Amino acid sequence: MNKKDLGAFYTPKHTVNYMVNLLFGFDEKSKLLEPCGGDGAFISDILENNSLKSRQITVWDINPDVKNHIERLGVKFELKDALLQTIFQNDDLFNKIEKFTHIIGNPPYLNKQSSYIKKNKNKLKKIYDEIGVNDTYALFIYLCCHLLETNGQLCFITSDTYLTLGIHKKLRKFLLTNFVIKNITLCQHDLFKDTGALVNTCIIFLENRKIDENDIIIFNDCRNLEIGNYNGDKYYTKQNKLLSYPDYIFDFNGNGKLIEKIEKAEKLIDFVDGGLGMHTTDNEKFLAIVDYNGIKYAKNGIKKFVSVDEVKNKDWKFYHKKGGDTKYYLPAEYCIRWDNESIKSYKMPKNYNLREKRQGFLISGICSTLSARMATVGALWESNKAMCFFPKNPQKYPPEFFIGILNSDPYNKIIKILNHTNSIQIRDIKKLPLFNFDNNDIEQIVKIVKKIIEQMKKNIDYNFSLEQNKINQIVNKYIL
Ligand SMILES: C[S@@+](CC[C@H](N)C(=O)[O-])C[C@H]1O[C@@H](n2cnc3c(N)ncnc32)[C@H](O)[C@@H]1O
Repeated sequence: MNKKDLGAFYTPKHTVNYMVNLLFGFDEKSKLLEPCGGDGAFISDILENNSLKSRQITVWDINPDVKNHIERLGVKFELKDALLQTIFQNDDLFNKIEKFTHIIGNPPYLNKQSSYIKKNKNKLKKIYDEIGVNDTYALFIYLCCHLLETNGQLCFITSDTYLTLGIHKKLRKFLLTNFVIKNITLCQHDLFKDTGALVNTCIIFLENRKIDENDIIIFNDCRNLEIGNYNGDKYYTKQNKLLSYPDYIFDFNGNGKLIEKIEKAEKLIDFVDGGLGMHTTDNEKFLAIVDYNGIKYAKNGIKKFVSVDEVKNKDWKFYHKKGGDTKYYLPAEYCIRWDNESIKSYKMPKNYNLREKRQGFLISGICSTLSARMATVGALWESNKAMCFFPKNPQKYPPEFFIGILNSDPYNKIIKILNHTNSIQIRDIKKLPLFNFDNNDIEQIVKIVKKIIEQMKKNIDYNFSLEQNKINQIVNKYIL
């Protein structure tokens, strides 16, 4: 296997120093483990500083190429797949697991699509059932937490997706309930750029002891500092408070009050229906670009064009496919063949209402900001690119109202708290609150959004920043 398949991106020296310095209490009884040692960056640092003797150190790695180098350092080395060949559940007297006072490392970041997880999925599922099998780094955190002696310390640098992503909810709960998280350092965006890995990382430092109500997690935000500087803005949060947050998200910006408001509010999803869209299975074959009397809103490779009048006839349906930051208004850019033969190829969700006549609104899928716009009535939409929703009570909450609040700065702030990565998914939309907006504010928002849409119909590039500010002001009242 090559380095990429092993997730082998080595840790920069200044990060190694910072992490090693977080560990404390080394003495002659200490036993340190680096469970995926690679080039031995961490243990070399520890040996150089004479913090521990080489016999107190154990290193594991799956890659035989690193064996000689690590053994030359005089430490214990085991060539193994740490995730699959480490027993940690059965700690009775006869099957005593070796435990460690200190564990440090940079575990591999291999996700569900990696050949490693695909190949070992079933075996991993049996062992890591409690947190689910999503990323190898999360499995390493879970595994090594079990290998800590009482009061033992663990310090890992990993991808930061577990701080908020829904798939890591169980890992967060496991950590919050069983360990004391001393601090989490959010690293610079381009920390691993030189190694070719574009991943946002964070460093977790925790202790294996029961939490009490005064334990505080320090979030050290170094994301915008120059590389090598670990003196970031600090946010302090009581650990047990995180357990009351939706999906136990690790809020690292001191948004506690807002999160409480989000928790208490009703959920926006309960006021709409609709959701995920379809797949054509072959866009080239089944889609065409709509020609609105000379104007086309799609720019990509599909070569067939169909006039808007022709689409309105029975053999085509309008089709939304655009994600990204398209806000307020964009007519369906595509149309999809709607004859009995073509329909057989489509993969459509069960709740798709093909006779839908209500006015809906779209939210872009997989994008970094929340972006909502009017849907074309009767149009279908493509999964992942756009999600389409229909207000259940459009008299009270018209589609323009939802579009207005979703495009507002406060809702963009909320979605970032709920999922700080650049991939907004339906599970995040489901967590969005609907605050108790008063009728006057709803009317105001609808009026402003209608005006924006009217202007965009005349000029699709209309600059709506002034109107947006007004909406922001109205929505802000509800989150302050
Ligand atoms: C991100 S590198 C870190 C290397 C080194 N500790 C550092 O920080 O510079 C991950 C290491 O994990 C090893 N590795 C990957 N999968 C493993 C597994 N299942 N068990 C043990 N080691 C593994 C790779 O060979 C690689 O050396």
